[in-house]
Amino acid sequence: MNFKTELENRILYLEENLKRYLPEEAGYSRTVREAMNYSLLAGGKRIRPMLMFEVYQLFQGTSELIYPFMAAIEMIHTYSLVHDDLPSMDNDLYRRGKKTTHAVFGEGMAVLAGDGLLNYAFETVLKAKIDTDEMGICLCSLNVLAKKAGIDGMIGGQTADILAENIGDSVDLEHLLFIHKNKTAALIEASMMIGAILAGATDDEVNKMEQIANKIGIAFQIQDDILDITSTLEVLGKETGSDDKNNKVTYVTLNGLENSKLQVKKLSDEGIDILKSIETHNGYNNLFLNELLCSMIAREK
Ligand code: IPE
Ligand code: IPE
Ligand code: MG
Ligand code: MG
Ligand code: MG
Repeated sequence: MNFKTELENRILYLEENLKRYLPEEAGYSRTVREAMNYSLLAGGKRIRPMLMFEVYQLFQGTSELIYPFMAAIEMIHTYSLVHDDLPSMDNDLYRRGKKTTHAVFGEGMAVLAGDGLLNYAFETVLKAKIDTDEMGICLCSLNVLAKKAGIDGMIGGQTADILAENIGDSVDLEHLLFIHKNKTAALIEASMMIGAILAGATDDEVNKMEQIANKIGIAFQIQDDILDITSTLEVLGKETGSDDKNNKVTYVTLNGLENSKLQVKKLSDEGIDILKSIETHNGYNNLFLNELLCSMIAREK
């Protein structure tokens, strides 16, 4: 297997899936629909739907509900980015190699596009064909999605992130890990858990996916903090130095660059070990998922 080719094929496949669910650009509300589609189609690594699908494959899922859920998680993630970039939050002008949504459509429309994407994620799932015997897994997945995106997940983390600006000295590691766990790991946890739930995995297996995603997700945000210092706009597709500009406490400001790199590797290895233990125990196998988690340790964007 050539990992790079497989990865590119999967991104194409995930984008084709996303396109099936985009809102139509018409009528008096056309502009917000355009802004939603602009942000959704601007590119991006599609890591959340990818993880959802790979976990679903690991547990040999067959439910067609995976398709609207993969689109929904990317809509919620994209909304979080549109709002994160607003002048009232991180105030950034580039995202996914393009101008941010508010830079193109104005601030009011970017707020509405974010709101629209959040709502449309749930509309997308609810208008899918749901068989009677799928009601249970569908509700359970919706519950995970709503909770991990909300005040006990991403929104909670983003709130703590904003409140921690300019108070660097009083933010300790526990506080920072709360931010990273919630603003970033929560949606990655939702992705892997929903992949498992929709495939009919057991509660124990779903819990294991949450544990793996927690570690991978925190590592993902630490790597994001590192790249904000070491990368470039050209490679990253978003402006570097954003954290410094906003006086954010990050893993790097707290522990230094070298320690941060070690922590990304340590957390990722711990996540990969849990995955391997499940695979060995149950005879499951998904080589690509293993490689994907390994590749995230050294990601450059
Ligand atoms: C960016 O997420 C925000 C973080 C949680 C670090 P991604 O790095 O997954 O962004 P895209 O989707 O590839 O643009
Ligand atoms: C934001 O973290 C995570 C979200 C929930 C959007 P960052 O503010 O560090 O993400 P980037 O660096 O702008 O992508
Ligand atoms: Mg932010
Ligand atoms: Mg930001
Ligand atoms: Mg960042």
